[in-house]
Amino acid sequence: MAQTTSSQNQAKQQAAEAAIEFIQPGMIVGVGTGSTVNYFIDALANIKQEIEGAVSSSEESTERLKAHGIPVYDLNGAGALQVYVDGADEITPQLHMIKGGGAALTREKIVAAVAETFICIADESKQVDVLGNFPLPVEVIPMARSYVAREIVKLGGDPVYREGVVTDNGNVILDVYNLHIEKPIELEYKLNQITGVVTNGLFAARGADIALISNGTTLKTLH
Ligand code: 5RP
Repeated sequence: MAQTTSSQNQAKQQAAEAAIEFIQPGMIVGVGTGSTVNYFIDALANIKQEIEGAVSSSEESTERLKAHGIPVYDLNGAGALQVYVDGADEITPQLHMIKGGGAALTREKIVAAVAETFICIADESKQVDVLGNFPLPVEVIPMARSYVAREIVKLGGDPVYREGVVTDNGNVILDVYNLHIEKPIELEYKLNQITGVVTNGLFAARGADIALISNGTTLKTLH
């Protein structure tokens, strides 16, 4: 994984703070997971009196939101969500993404599915033309791990078990190397068809609607 430099952190912070512009008074905000989202949560804390609260995609983000005194709602009781803000491990000009570096992909995909608008916040190192240099995370029911790995090999990938990681849902992660993903929507569906796969980290069928990308000094908006 690429080294996190202070300029990269500055870029993450700039992208995260720009997302605050999309938050309206009274909203329940969908909140993703990761170091870029942590900057977003910290910025959200500055306007916490104006929002109703948040729906969270991970235990990690829930803890940070609560530490700031931001109410966290169960997705089932929250109704429609206008906005979901999350990071990405890779993002293309079509706003297709690889996510799940932090193992939160399944809950992220659920909250993203509910939200009207997905805003991706990222530093510019996450921009790619073709997905797949970052190993694609796949969340798997533990007893299906070896079977799913063999099926992924048939699709041309090299799956590696992420040792010592248990997801918030009690499952395991296979990171799939050596994919050059020319057709992300097709691969997303194919991987989800393997019995034992909970979900995969391709966010292509439902990609981002807006991407806020920073290099630390300049912010650009893609949509
Ligand atoms: C977590 C994710 C994150 O959004 C992704 O890994 C990017 O993280 P970071 O903002 O730390 O670079 O998908 O499951």
